[in-house]
Amino acid sequence: MDRRKIGESIYWLGAVDWDRRLFDSLIPLPDGTTYNAYLLEGSEKTALLDTVDPPLVDSLLDQLNGVPKIDFIVSHHSEQDHSGSIARVLERFPAAKIISTPKAKDLLINLLRVPESALITVGDGETLSLGDKTLKFIHTPWVHWPETMVTYVEEDHILFSCDFFGSHIASADLFVTDQGRVYEAAKRYFAEIMMPFRNLIEKNIEKIKSLDIRMIAPSHGQIYDHPSWIVDAYKEWIRDTPKNQVVVPYVSMHGSTKRMVDHFATALVREGVRVELFNLVVTDIGKLAMALVDAATIVVGTSTVLAGPHPLAAYAAFLANALRPKAKFLSIIGSYGWGGKTVETLAGMIPNLKVEVLDPVLCKGLPSESDLKALDSLASTISRKHKENKLS
Ligand code: FEO
Repeated sequence: MDRRKIGESIYWLGAVDWDRRLFDSLIPLPDGTTYNAYLLEGSEKTALLDTVDPPLVDSLLDQLNGVPKIDFIVSHHSEQDHSGSIARVLERFPAAKIISTPKAKDLLINLLRVPESALITVGDGETLSLGDKTLKFIHTPWVHWPETMVTYVEEDHILFSCDFFGSHIASADLFVTDQGRVYEAAKRYFAEIMMPFRNLIEKNIEKIKSLDIRMIAPSHGQIYDHPSWIVDAYKEWIRDTPKNQVVVPYVSMHGSTKRMVDHFATALVREGVRVELFNLVVTDIGKLAMALVDAATIVVGTSTVLAGPHPLAAYAAFLANALRPKAKFLSIIGSYGWGGKTVETLAGMIPNLKVEVLDPVLCKGLPSESDLKALDSLASTISRKHKENKLS
């Protein structure tokens, strides 16, 4: 891909990773991703904002052919998909200085083995002049690591946001063309890496509120040339109030738990509660993470394996605990053959969730009539709790 102009003396560089299907050896990327870097040629100085994931560095180096000098490499975020090619760029432009937050300095030295003498740290709100362009650095911790920052170019009204507002979509379109598709991808991205830091993200949105932002250029996915909707979406996702919605991640070995889940889902719908089921054997874990952004209640459905929850149910509980969604209620349903400690084990795995645990429904073998009534009762309790909390 050639470098492409997005503003006056401002260029997109980077790589489209059409084939990538997993990030951090964990996060599904059904639509691939991009690693966006940007070149800003000021009247006096030139800055490169971020780089690309190391396997695709040749794409970036080709795009830098003909660029006479780089004075600054701004590293918004030390994770290697953005910083990992800095050393290769430095080989080409040895006089360049790396600009980062103070917190990023150690990370960059340790992750990339770049020399300390090449690094310049900048404070929150500090500016750097390229001549006719002024870069304002704003520290935005936890989008996505503690050392992250964004850059606002005052003259062009562009916010270079790195992971913040990003989405994993491989596309040859530089700008958002299908808002619905990007909304879903950005929500998935938020759920997977930003949701645990909701409160801090709120502070970061406050910090950029006063800026006259006319374009947001993230380091993954497409550029927002009409950015207000993505900022509004973030405000919605970080809101403390969940929706009248139940998420049921479940796994069933021989059909008993599945029968319970189906009955329970029907009962919830009858009660006017929205429900989403995720069969953990086949589900895209990113879809489950997205559903957790809004859900007021999580109900884990599990068979019993070796006296405890099925490992897939334990994984779902571990994931929910790590992502810290805004859910207010949690319960467990499932089936066992001869006993076990499923409830105790799962309940012990979610210390981060600030939830009220509702009475679980465990049955022996296939659910009996009284077990199904207990599921009706759980659905009714959830509906009542949601109404008491005025959830819609
Ligand atoms: Fe795109 Fe946190 O790296």
